[in-house]
Amino acid sequence: MSKIAVVGLGPGHTDYILPKALSAIAQSDIVIAGKRNLESIDVSGKATFIVGNNLSQMIEFINDNRDSKKISVVVSGDTGFYSMLRYLKKYFGAEELDVITGISSMQYMFARIGQSWEDAYLGSLHGRKSEFIEKVKEYDKVGLLTDNKWTPDKIATELLINGIDQKIMYVGENLSYENEKITKGSIEQFAEKKEYHICVVVISNE
Ligand SMILES: C[S@@+](CC[C@H](N)C(=O)[O-])C[C@H]1O[C@@H](n2cnc3c(N)ncnc32)[C@H](O)[C@@H]1O
Repeated sequence: MSKIAVVGLGPGHTDYILPKALSAIAQSDIVIAGKRNLESIDVSGKATFIVGNNLSQMIEFINDNRDSKKISVVVSGDTGFYSMLRYLKKYFGAEELDVITGISSMQYMFARIGQSWEDAYLGSLHGRKSEFIEKVKEYDKVGLLTDNKWTPDKIATELLINGIDQKIMYVGENLSYENEKITKGSIEQFAEKKEYHICVVVISNE
């Protein structure tokens, strides 16, 4: 039985997929991934399983196939930063997984705005309750993954409600894709209601 590869795809564009990730995917019979990630890779001739709201079926599917097939579970960004790896570890031991890291959307975002991140607080509001206000007060730089509940305008509004109006905010939308958009402005500017696609937010003292 071969190990289940857990492959970080990077922010999305093929230019940012590591060669090691591509070869793990190429060697797989089955690729398991969300729809956006599947669109970034060549899965011709392979069986696929699209991940959505079906995580227990995914585990069943892996268990039904892992004896005879080589499987890759492809996740966005880095495998160690708010990815499916944590969920997979509930079912499979470290020795059953071959984890291949990728470039995180957060790492990519800091590079694009020309800032280092070793001194930043990095977190996620993706499906989580907000505790970020204290972190923004405490740290000079905070990087946040967002979701469709915690959008940049909601984050900015929450910051203003908590009296934080002197920081600079960056919003990185569709990072690495052709339609990438990175904007910089005051908290007040971002508080205006707006529609966003996938985003990373950085809040900093400048
Ligand atoms: C489940 S988390 C996965 C994070 C991933 N492991 C990483 O290291 O980037 C999904 C969140 O990552 C961020 N994200 C991932 N890819 C992105 C991209 N290309 N552009 C902007 N944000 C992205 C968004 O905040 C999205 O809601």
